[in-house]
Amino acid sequence: MSSYLSELFSLEGRVAVVTGGSSGIGRAIAEALGRAGASVVVIARREPELAETVAALESYGCRAASVSADLASRPGVREAAERAARPFGEPDIVVNCAGINLRPPMEEIGEAVWDTTMAVNLDAPFLLGQRFGPGMAERGYGRLIHVASQQAFRAFVTSGAYGVSKAGLVALARSQAEAWSPRGVTANALVPGFVMTPLNARLSSDPDRVSALAARTMTGRNGRTEDFAGAAVYLAGPSSAYVTGQAVFVDGGFSAH
Ligand SMILES: NC(=O)c1ccc[n+]([C@@H]2O[C@H](COP(=O)([O-])OP(=O)(O)OC[C@H]3O[C@@H](n4cnc5c(N)ncnc54)[C@H](OP(=O)(O)O)[C@@H]3O)[C@@H](O)[C@H]2O)c1
Repeated sequence: MSSYLSELFSLEGRVAVVTGGSSGIGRAIAEALGRAGASVVVIARREPELAETVAALESYGCRAASVSADLASRPGVREAAERAARPFGEPDIVVNCAGINLRPPMEEIGEAVWDTTMAVNLDAPFLLGQRFGPGMAERGYGRLIHVASQQAFRAFVTSGAYGVSKAGLVALARSQAEAWSPRGVTANALVPGFVMTPLNARLSSDPDRVSALAARTMTGRNGRTEDFAGAAVYLAGPSSAYVTGQAVFVDGGFSAH
């Protein structure tokens, strides 16, 4: 990388934790941060996917480790945070990408769906922020990146509890930005459009709905996981120091009309 590009974007010497880093959008972000120079710890439940992700990162010459943990419980999140800080030290970058997508019709949403959705999609990012944000502020550099959703801003295809959790996540970025930006810690949300990943396997298997969603974008196609690489590197790196409390839409124009 030229020295000018390094000054803007290099993550050399940084430590990143990526929840949900073993699949889909999180996996692409973990690889991007690693290839931009960060040491990366990925957190998710399933061990084989974690091991495969670490191997892929290492094959690019990156330093990588994984933590298998269930972020649906508060003790699980607390323990995962401690374990994630062991391989390379306290993180400079935390990406909250682990998410679940339970979307029964509104009248069928019971307390279990509500509680699990909030636990994984909103409580875990909050707890990880409480654990790592103050240390980042003390050290004078930090990047909190939350992967939100269109449903944070508008209701469609039974947004239900999912949309509420993602709206909370966008607000969490603003609250964290307010608290810690004066000390070098930015907090932002990345907002995808529709991206074919295991998360929405059912919808992805319906070609008519997939093309209808592509037609709602301005680019004429749905998202790919690699569309998030550059945006994540930017939000994690030095050149985004003056971008905080924002929702950054990476959606092919889905939200713009
Ligand atoms: N795909 C889209 O169109 C789209 C659109 C808007 C927003 N998003 C958001 O983007 C994020 C990533 O989604 P994706 O589409 O890339 O999905 P994905 O491929 O299914 O990845 C989800 C990741 O989260 C992890 N995870 C889920 N529940 C967890 C738990 N309880 N504890 C720890 N890890 C957990 C999964 O690993 P394990 O299952 O092994 O735990 C996996 O690594 C989500 O927050 C989603 O809401 C996606």
